[in-house]
Formats: sequence, structure tokens, C-alpha cells
Amino acid sequence: MNDAAQPLLIANWKANLAPGEEVALAAQIATLGATRRLSPGSLMIAPSMVGLVAVASLLRREHDALKLGIAAQDCSSDLAGAATGEIPASHLLGAADAVILGHSERRARGESGSLIGAKLARCVAAGIRPILCLGDADPKATESERCALVVRQWREVLAGAATLGCDVATVLGSGVTIAYEPVWAIGSGQAASPDVAAAVARALRSETSSSSLRILYGGSVDGKSAAGFLSPTGEGSLNGLLIGGASLQAERLLEIATAVGVAS
Ligand code: 13P
Repeated sequence: MNDAAQPLLIANWKANLAPGEEVALAAQIATLGATRRLSPGSLMIAPSMVGLVAVASLLRREHDALKLGIAAQDCSSDLAGAATGEIPASHLLGAADAVILGHSERRARGESGSLIGAKLARCVAAGIRPILCLGDADPKATESERCALVVRQWREVLAGAATLGCDVATVLGSGVTIAYEPVWAIGSGQAASPDVAAAVARALRSETSSSSLRILYGGSVDGKSAAGFLSPTGEGSLNGLLIGGASLQAERLLEIATAVGVAS
């Protein structure tokens, strides 16, 4: 997976593509990525659950040099067993390197911080990296309101993880990555300003006393806005981007990779 120094891009394909289309797009991205000297380990793809294994095996079989990571878009809070339709984190091991948790599109379907925390604990126990989404819903919130809300979401998730015996030190030691995704920016065509994302990153690093906590930004990122998110420094710095719409075309995704310096 990617080293700490280079930005990480995660392509969240959501439920936009059928599995065959996902395999085709993964192949296009890998081929274009090789041409553009995409830096190994700098890109992770999050296909649908049905496409995940096919995408992972294609990338490992034919494009291994690029070290493209695979993330699931969710997992179960159950360990395993009699839970029809659930996909335990431990069953994703081998196919996925990471799991996106708590996306606002899942929270909007009723997922609570406590449930997301249980899922996070399962990922940590399974040794699979959690990508935890946090985000506020009010574009007019003040900076302090916004930061307080995101910190509150973080605490709720930690409380959920604690019910399964996973404490904050264990969560932080798991390589957890936070994706700050303001709900009002997602799919709107209007990204937040890098200053907003930097303020939230500072608040989260202060809350966790972890200056090395990895934090991504997501919400309407494209080739024009991408680089701006990597310019804040110090405690407000961002380590990469979680990309929705612009990751559905190989050319647009590689444009972002070029903008942030992981492709030519
Ligand atoms: P968009 O880039 O389409 O706004 O989606 C962002 C997102 O939700 C990624 O998880």
C-alpha cells in the first residue's frame, strides 16, 4: 500500500457501474496509469461488492506493478455466522486492502455512529485498514460548529468500537484513515475550500493527539480543485482524496493523479 509521504487517491465507484463495467474501467485506468507513470501504491479503487473480486484479480494478475489497492465500500458489523446477506470484514481479507466505513450515503440509510464503530472494530480485528468517512451537512456552519460536529462523529464511532473492546489506541494503531467528506459538497460539483478541510484536519489531529493521523478530503474533487487540497501544511495537511464522480472515467481520474503529482 502507499507510503506515508505520497498522496493517496481512492476512487469510490459507489453503485454506478455493473461488475463488467467495473472490470473494464479498472483495466482502462491501469493501462492509462502505466502510460502516465502512475506512482505504485498511490491509487486505490473501491468497486461494488459484486465487482470487487473480479477487479482485484484482474489488477493483481495483469497490472501488479502499479500496486493498485482495493477497498470495499462497506462491511458487516457481524463477525461471521448466521447473518444472511452480510459480508464480514474478515471475509474481505485477501481481496480488499481496506474498507470504506460510514459514508454519508450509508448514514443517510440509517447507519449510526455506533454501528459504524462496530464495523470499524471488526476491520481492525481482521487486520484490514478502515477508511472512516466523517462529514457535516450544513454548508453555512461556522468553522467551530463544523469542527465540533466532525469531532462528535469521531467520538460516536469510537464509542461504538469500544463496545467490541476496541479502544482508541488500537484504532489509531490500525492505520485508520479518515476521509472528511462534507455532505453538501458530495456530488454538488462544488468542492469545499481547502481551508475548510484543513480546519477539520487540525481539529481531528488535536482531538486524537496524533499529528500523523492520515486524513483525506472528498466531495466534488476534479482535476482543477485536486492540488489545492494538498497545499495546507502542518496539522491541517491532507494526505489524499476520496473521489466519486471524477473517478468514473480513466482520463479524469488520471488528470487528478497528475495534478497531485503521482502521475505525469
Ligand atoms: P463526488 O466526488 O462525486 O462528489 O463524491 C465524493 C464521494 O462521496 C466519495 O466518497
